Amino acid sequence: MEKKDLQKKQAGTAALTYIKNDMVVGLGTGSTVAYFLEALANSNLNIIGVTTSTITSKRCSELDIPIVDIDAVDHIDITVDGADEIDIDLNGIKGGGDALLMEKIVAKNSKENIWIVDSSKVHKTLGLFPLPVEVIPYGSGQLLRQFTAKGFSPQLRCHPNTTKPIITDAGHYIIDCYMNTIDDPYSLADYFERQVGVVEHGLFLNICNKMIIGGDTVKIKKSQ
Ligand code: 5RP
Repeated sequence: MEKKDLQKKQAGTAALTYIKNDMVVGLGTGSTVAYFLEALANSNLNIIGVTTSTITSKRCSELDIPIVDIDAVDHIDITVDGADEIDIDLNGIKGGGDALLMEKIVAKNSKENIWIVDSSKVHKTLGLFPLPVEVIPYGSGQLLRQFTAKGFSPQLRCHPNTTKPIITDAGHYIIDCYMNTIDDPYSLADYFERQVGVVEHGLFLNICNKMIIGGDTVKIKKSQ
């Protein structure tokens, strides 16, 4: 197994320590979460899951992890999710796996959020990973023009080697903004939140409570 994958597995497995019987657990999306799901399925824990994508729901049904609709629970105790990039303040970029909207809804409704990552994702500042912005298809070409004018070098996310846009679980497009570095994530988040047609952006600020970084010695960093 490659170092990155090994670290994802180590982080995913370590997250199990925080799960207790009868918890309602938010289940993120991605290859790191896949390791967490496997560890959860192999444990004796009885939990109820709330998923963040159809792909995670499908994996849960393969692994016999019980899941319910988000609106069927009155709270979510803890959510375990991956991230595409995370900074030293535990702010992050998510959405590389097309699931940012549902991930953010689940995260915002969770009492605690744990992110599981490999060490390559931890950076001093955000922006190296292109920032995903989920948009309504109607008028998305206008948003692409606006983002270009702002210097974001936007690209409509398409299926590999095609010009066919990817459609999210909620029926939207994703525009990836190549920022290189994001000096002020809060004012950038505010900008996207004010644009008509933008449904959600992949800046997850002040959401992560604990980051688990895989490694031979797993590192845990808590938010201040
Ligand atoms: C999906 C996400 C994922 O959490 C993120 O892309 C990390 O994925 P992986 O664990 O496969 O590296 O935000 O939209």
